[in-house]
Amino acid sequence: MFLSKNLGVNEDGHLTIGGVDCVKLAKEYATPVYVMDEALIRENCRNFKSSIEKFYDKNGLVCYASKAFCCKEICRIMKEEDMGLDVVSGGELFTALSVGFPAAKICFHGNNKTDDEITLALSHGVGRIVVDNFSELERLENLSSKLRKKANIMLRVKPGIDAHTHDFIKTGQIDSKFGLALETGEAFEAVKYAISLENVILKGLHCHIGSQIFDIEPFELAAKVMLEFMAKISNELSYSISELNLGGGFGIKYLSEHDPAPYEAYMERVSKVIKQSCKELDIPQPFVMIEPGRSIVGAAGITLYTVGAVKEIPGVRTYVSVDGGMCDNPRYALYRSQYEAVLANKASDPKDTVVTIAGKCCESGDLIGENIPLQKAEPGDIIAVLATGAYNYSMSSNYNRIAKPPVVMVSKGNSKVIVKRETLDDLIRNDL
Ligand code: LLP
Repeated sequence: MFLSKNLGVNEDGHLTIGGVDCVKLAKEYATPVYVMDEALIRENCRNFKSSIEKFYDKNGLVCYASKAFCCKEICRIMKEEDMGLDVVSGGELFTALSVGFPAAKICFHGNNKTDDEITLALSHGVGRIVVDNFSELERLENLSSKLRKKANIMLRVKPGIDAHTHDFIKTGQIDSKFGLALETGEAFEAVKYAISLENVILKGLHCHIGSQIFDIEPFELAAKVMLEFMAKISNELSYSISELNLGGGFGIKYLSEHDPAPYEAYMERVSKVIKQSCKELDIPQPFVMIEPGRSIVGAAGITLYTVGAVKEIPGVRTYVSVDGGMCDNPRYALYRSQYEAVLANKASDPKDTVVTIAGKCCESGDLIGENIPLQKAEPGDIIAVLATGAYNYSMSSNYNRIAKPPVVMVSKGNSKVIVKRETLDDLIRNDL
């Protein structure tokens, strides 16, 4: 009935997440509130990890892309699950380090890292710095030399695959701010330069072809292109690259009709391409890394809001206003992302209305979604917007000086706050 197996309806007709009554959660923690299900997050980590073990003979690492949802508790969970971590800013890195996440298992990304961020990464011994461009390579060499450290790096390569077109295309895509292009020779030049540096050690190559991708084929193609590039480096520069990071991007179900490829199938097919290509190209099988973000936390989260005004405009639409909006979920405003919603206190009623869920920000485009099937909403009802675990809290803002909601984690039938609700005082904390 629901998008995700961790959601259900109890005997009171209330929506449950991880077995916990969402109406009770709304009462206990007030709304809006993000709710995450720990069991599903851990299960997703374990599934990714076991398929890496199965298909890559344990020769790989799953790095959770923390941009999807970053706070201390999720870093603790990733540490306990023995995962690697992808961070993309000094802030994400600092959060991970603050709970003792092992620096050696962190990949540090970013297309414009500052000297301070690089220094933080080097001084804590971050495992891999994923270098985006020439000027970063140069700065990294100088900063490593100054700190008397060696920087273990991967180079971010644009494999020339655009997975976001309807039929993904294999050319173009050099127009991206991320990484070094293969087809112009830029990536090859960067490899030569990296190899020539004294304090930088080139360990691997990285690519990331996009996000919320449903097909397996673009991933297979990207792996093949990257391995061909590794073979070229080996043949022409006699330099062996031992690691391949294929990024994240696995799609999740936001709507019942969505049908993403099962991750196990992705792992199996891509691993076959890797094994086959390595044989054909006569290069050793690299250590393989992947960086799932959305697919680990997306389905594990929901957002609970209280319905305020219900505005029916005859012949036009019905606006159901909630006590949050683009400040806690900017994804509809940014990408027209679609969500399903349920009235948590009427979850067993039929969804016999179609509504627009509007936020409370002073902005017409502040919508959570349009044309959303919903039970008949009245002021005071609790709306659950589903699959909000990825890129909602992490992309939230204080627009209109609206305080950010708390994040509550449910686990084994209990719940606890893992990120506190912001207060009005928090909003003026940095004002002078
Ligand atoms: N690795 C790299 C280098 C990335 O750039 C990303 C996402 C990931 C891994 C994780 O991708 P995932 O498995 O979560 O798809 N704000 C957008 C998504 C931006 C993704 C950016 N990079 C959204 O809300 O849909």
